[in-house]
Amino acid sequence: MSSNKPIRIPRARIAGVGKAVPDTILSNADLEKIVDTTDEWITERTGIKERRIVRRGDKTSDYCIRAARDALAEAGVEPEELDFIILGTISPDMRFPATAIFVQEALNAKNATAWDVSATCSGFLYSLYLAEAIIALGRAKKGLVLGAEFLTPITDFTDRATCVLFGDGAGAVVVTEAEGDRGILSTYIGSGGNASHVLYSVGHGTAGSVNQLGEATGERYLQMNGNEVFKHAVRILVKSAKEALDIAGLTAADVDWLVPHQANLRIMKATAERLGIPPEKVFVNIHKYGNTSSASIPIALEEGRHDGSLKDGQVICCIAFGGGFTWGGAVIRF
Ligand code: ACO
Repeated sequence: MSSNKPIRIPRARIAGVGKAVPDTILSNADLEKIVDTTDEWITERTGIKERRIVRRGDKTSDYCIRAARDALAEAGVEPEELDFIILGTISPDMRFPATAIFVQEALNAKNATAWDVSATCSGFLYSLYLAEAIIALGRAKKGLVLGAEFLTPITDFTDRATCVLFGDGAGAVVVTEAEGDRGILSTYIGSGGNASHVLYSVGHGTAGSVNQLGEATGERYLQMNGNEVFKHAVRILVKSAKEALDIAGLTAADVDWLVPHQANLRIMKATAERLGIPPEKVFVNIHKYGNTSSASIPIALEEGRHDGSLKDGQVICCIAFGGGFTWGGAVIRF
């Protein structure tokens, strides 16, 4: 028998947010003592005043677990209720298993399936895209989405062009099935496949470990052509916002808050300007944390929710861009 009832596609919503950042602060004044730079140069070119840095012995999963516990408590969700744990990171605890597995283990989230996503600064939005799709397909009801990064251990602190930019931290959101017009209104992701040489880190990857005697031959530190990144960032971020808004049936005029990946204040301002979004609607915390890659958006969501900026019912547009290049957008109504 046929039915005229429309098929209900479940919507995902963010039910709780959490963050964990290291206690140790590295200020621009501290950096002046390490490399030939000034607070004035860093502030003017990037908007960064200080960043948080991890200590020896810290692991990415330690910060993920703290952020996750806070997000779960806020959502009122028990770890055993989680169907999935997805972590966007390019700085895992180990080559394997996935860092998300350590999070699952620590939380005792025994009913979840856990995995990592490698998408540089877009890692959180790639993970949110998957979470939204899994919930929309009816394959899961509750999950944890994280973005976490330890960038300072792979940063060359003799290279003033990169060492002033990055910081460490983690953010988490709990995603649950939602009713009504609130929740994740859209997600969008993309990758270019034409700029892998512009921003990369060989690290322990196979491109650097062909030596069969087991000697590390890779470059230890992150490599970046900053000007080249800058050149493409604004165009790709604008496209990401427009695509995500279009999927949600909205335009830039509907946006209450733009929450961009915190890469550089000038990139954020130029992106907002091209979208016609006024600067007071751009959420900025780069002055406190620097560029924390995939952690920057969930950290911003946590701060924005808890300081009262990102209010229920408002349209929040998140956008990211990173090495690869990768990019993504998400439109959220809390
Ligand atoms: N302090 C003082 N001077 C510096 C510093 C510093 N820390 N770094 C560079 N300079 C100098 C340069 O040597 C250069 O000097 P010169 O003119 O004598 O040669 C001058 O400042 C200008 O350098 P530029 O590289 O042209 O400076 P620019 O204004 O482009 O800013 C920056 C550099 C901040 C890196 C910028 O290009 C940028 O933000 N790029 C994007 C980076 C980014 O967003 N990355 C995100 C991706 S991260 C990820 O995916 C993991």
